[in-house]
Amino acid sequence: MTYLQIDGYACLVSPKPSPSSAFDAQIIPRTNAQFRRQVKDGKHADPVTWALTRKLVHPSQLPSTLNRLTERIRHSTLPDALQNTLIASLGKSHVTPHQQVPVNHALLKELTGLPSTKAIRSLCLYFSLVQTVPTSSFPAPEDVEAFIRSGQSPYDLLLQVDQPSLLDLGAGDLSFEEDFLDLYLSRFQNGGKAFTLHAQDRLQPGSQFGGQYHANQERLDRLAHVAPEHLQFRFWGGIDMMEFSKQPQCLPQYTMVTCHAPATPTFAYEPTRISRPILHAHLTKMKGRYRKVRVNGEEALEVKHQGKCLTFPPWKFAIQGPLSLLNLVARRGAVGVLAAVDDEVFWEILAQLVDDPNMRPADVVFSPETLPDVFSHVHQALSSLKIGERCHLSDVIPLRRNIPGGTTPLERKPVTHRFRFVEIRRGDVFPGMPASFTARQFAHMSEEVPPWHLVLVPERVPTG
Ligand SMILES: C[S@@+](CC[C@H](N)C(=O)[O-])C[C@H]1O[C@@H](n2cnc3c(N)ncnc32)[C@H](O)[C@@H]1O
Repeated sequence: MTYLQIDGYACLVSPKPSPSSAFDAQIIPRTNAQFRRQVKDGKHADPVTWALTRKLVHPSQLPSTLNRLTERIRHSTLPDALQNTLIASLGKSHVTPHQQVPVNHALLKELTGLPSTKAIRSLCLYFSLVQTVPTSSFPAPEDVEAFIRSGQSPYDLLLQVDQPSLLDLGAGDLSFEEDFLDLYLSRFQNGGKAFTLHAQDRLQPGSQFGGQYHANQERLDRLAHVAPEHLQFRFWGGIDMMEFSKQPQCLPQYTMVTCHAPATPTFAYEPTRISRPILHAHLTKMKGRYRKVRVNGEEALEVKHQGKCLTFPPWKFAIQGPLSLLNLVARRGAVGVLAAVDDEVFWEILAQLVDDPNMRPADVVFSPETLPDVFSHVHQALSSLKIGERCHLSDVIPLRRNIPGGTTPLERKPVTHRFRFVEIRRGDVFPGMPASFTARQFAHMSEEVPPWHLVLVPERVPTG
């Protein structure tokens, strides 16, 4: 046996694989390739939390980290053989602060494909050992649920925490940001709190496509001029929300995550439910033939729709699906609001929120004809909500026990989340609540049915 350093900490090295390693090496390639890949991908999937794992391998923290990891592994849903091998790779089951850490580097490498320090950090990420935000600025899910159940505006939750923050995904022209600050900024100021407001959109600033959804320059200027002790505002343009976590200045978690009028068709079809050829045929039938072109040197999507030739940003038909969006909301926010959700996007989101798998039929495209069949009593109950009325989804049907990862690699993570509480309202704008540009357009759209409004309270499902 020899001792090596992990970030300055002495670790015991097994010179060759131990008997348990030799045994488990046989099962690793067969059953655990997925685990290995997920552990390896974690760093790229969540760089912000990854950075925070560094302190967990600091010499002063390492023994406690290994003990906590061992506990998490023991209570995880991984196969027993993999649990045992993982625990063996981390050394003996309990280490006191001044003991040397008997990590089996060879076995750890075999299991994760990573050198020891990276492997331990990646396991910390996988088993959610990182405490990302002080709880005082990130209220507990049960407290958030109680708050929403009390009937107050979900935005008022921001007034309850020490360091309120909001992330708005697909922010468009920033009308919501302005509306929100008109209602809330003075309240934060009066409470002596600085508010962090982050907004992002995939539209490339300066692009000839996207029209009215471009961030409005005057609003950007106004928001940038509010004194930083009252408002920390930042806008990211030209960033896919699924890649947002790569931005160094983003927060690991926000008190609130919102998405107003989630883009369609981006979130109107779930790619884990509807296969690519069916999706392509459906989009062609409903929207028209489409292809990538270049216009004035810029890439675009050209759609032939009812005799007209329309051009959009090139990613317009890149289908990400509600699971990716729900995962993003669940992992980043103490509470999520999806507002002004159009009917098509709403039912696809709903299918992912309920426990009944029959409401996620493979390759069935939802339409006014298929919805009543697929959602039966749920469709009846929700369709009968009048404008302004709301209900708790769990009073209608049991909520899904965990939300699986979506198809977007950067927001796919092994830790699963669920929503412990979901409130559904019907309508575009609500008294006392800030609204977006698109929400205000519904009143003028005679062909659109009233949109939906969801308040989601996420919580982690313990995997490890
Ligand atoms: C229907 S508009 C809504 C804009 C604004 N939230 C509102 O309610 O007025 C959808 C917005 O989402 C943006 N978007 C679409 N896909 C996105 C993505 N993957 N990441 C970030 N923004 C996206 C679009 O550029 C557009 O601004």
